[in-house]
Amino acid sequence: MKKIDLTTANGRKVDNNQNSLTAGSRGPVLMQDVYLQEKLAHFDREEIPERIVHAKGAGAHGTFTVTNDITQYTKAAIFSEVGKQTRTFTRFSTVGGERGSADTARDPRGFATKFYTAEGNWDLVGNNTPVFFIRDPLKFPDFIHTQKRMPDSNLKSDNMMWDFWSKSPESLHQITTLFSNRGTPDGYRHMNGYSSHTYSFINANNERFWVKFHLKTMQGIKNLSADEATKLAGTNPDYATEDLFVSIKNGEFPSWKVHVQIMPEVEAENYAINPFDVTKVWPHADYPLIEVGILELNKNPKNYFNEVEQAAFSPSNKVPGIGLSPDKMLQGRLFSYPDTQRYRLGVNYNALPINKPDVEVNNGFRNGAMRFDDNGGDSLNYEPSHYTVPTESPELSEPPFKINGDADRYAYDSDENSDFVQAGNLYRLLSKSEQNDLVTNIVGSLSNATSEIQALQISHFKKADLGYGRTIEKQLRGNK
Ligand code: NDP
Ligand code: HEM
Repeated sequence: MKKIDLTTANGRKVDNNQNSLTAGSRGPVLMQDVYLQEKLAHFDREEIPERIVHAKGAGAHGTFTVTNDITQYTKAAIFSEVGKQTRTFTRFSTVGGERGSADTARDPRGFATKFYTAEGNWDLVGNNTPVFFIRDPLKFPDFIHTQKRMPDSNLKSDNMMWDFWSKSPESLHQITTLFSNRGTPDGYRHMNGYSSHTYSFINANNERFWVKFHLKTMQGIKNLSADEATKLAGTNPDYATEDLFVSIKNGEFPSWKVHVQIMPEVEAENYAINPFDVTKVWPHADYPLIEVGILELNKNPKNYFNEVEQAAFSPSNKVPGIGLSPDKMLQGRLFSYPDTQRYRLGVNYNALPINKPDVEVNNGFRNGAMRFDDNGGDSLNYEPSHYTVPTESPELSEPPFKINGDADRYAYDSDENSDFVQAGNLYRLLSKSEQNDLVTNIVGSLSNATSEIQALQISHFKKADLGYGRTIEKQLRGNK
């Protein structure tokens, strides 16, 4: 076997990796054992802050292949022709738990994909649910605090979650999804992904369309029962991580069919539902799914920390032809992700290998902690200039977007009761046995809340569907 020399960080060969340098065989360690110091000091700094949400996750490299022409809606180069392939990196995650928490917790699953396109990186940072609990970013830190731990006991608390949800009835649709069997997917391969938010497409004629993305698992939906999920949390807390890694290692590459729903820009003004409200879906009957391509995951990370932990996804990473929308939550996210990544990974996080785009990056950004590339070399770092420096591409300006209205803090844009309609639709489309599971899962958790909180929450379930609310109420009473 070829010998590989062990070295210090400055490249000197290490003469002894087993014994510290001491004064005598029993003696204290000498200050001049700089190798010991370096080894301990580096170890002391091995951890970086975990993600404040979605801390536990697993990822894999892959390929996106276009299967259907959507160039009438977007000029994004990634979609320019059928058959075109783009390399990708996807990270799946749970939301509320810490980095070592169980993969099978009842929680939404993150489904984030970085597409290394010929025009820069495009990140689709979605979940396995088509909607979210809240629709205003001002509420996000409060919501997440209820998913984490009590300030005094450091324990999780059902009472805390239902307290917040009962006072935030826009959460009912997502609660219904979360407590359904889809709240405990059987690993990451057997679940769908959704952009949840509405984004925009811009085509070559500079026309805007609103768009939602749906990634449908080609392995088929498979969920764990609540009991299986609880058991696995003890016997194999890394169940989903292992399932993903092992299947890719064995050459069983999971894939998802990517679809879009498209709404012409003008229709948004008069559509019955606010198309920018992330607590609501666009019914398929109004906006059918249009196939776009296939995402296949086909290569495991070689180094988890480098590729998965240091991956920095953000809805703000967009490319020409794919834009934003006025969705308030999306707008809040645009700030939050790069902000947390500057803190979690450092200001030069975009230059890390996993985040670096496949295109040349030219700008005047310089220096900062851990600037490990050539820092722009000797090129000028300002613009405009008489010299050759990177300049803007005005042909890429998006069409103007009309906004109006009085600056204020708005809770609803329409009828307050509209929050319950789609939760009810979801309940009604479930089979009888799925409805029973949903109710059992809710009761198991809601029974740990105070009777005051229960009463308010039951009134929301009843507004979604009288039968839904009454069954929960009956079972909760039976539990007393
Ligand atoms: P449709 O009947 O056209 O669509 C229902 C959709 O619900 C299906 O296409 C499927 O979406 C999803 N679904 C099917 N079975 C389940 C299940 N057991 N648990 C959770 N979701 C399931 O009606 P609408 O488009 O009007 O939607 C009705 C309700 O379905 C919505 O209120 C929403 O809660 C839910 N839904 C809607 C989606 C949408 O984008 N319109 C997407 C997902 C759920 P899929 O194949 O994407 O899983
Ligand atoms: C991760 C904030 C809503 C999906 C994160 C992170 C933050 C954050 C700070 C950690 C990022 C990192 O450390 O790299 C917010 C805020 C939200 C919001 C402020 C609302 C205002 C959402 C919604 C979705 C979502 C609606 C899904 C549609 C994700 C995913 C990750 C993530 C998938 C993990 C990305 C990864 O794998 O690295 N979020 N989030 N978030 N969020 Fe959100």
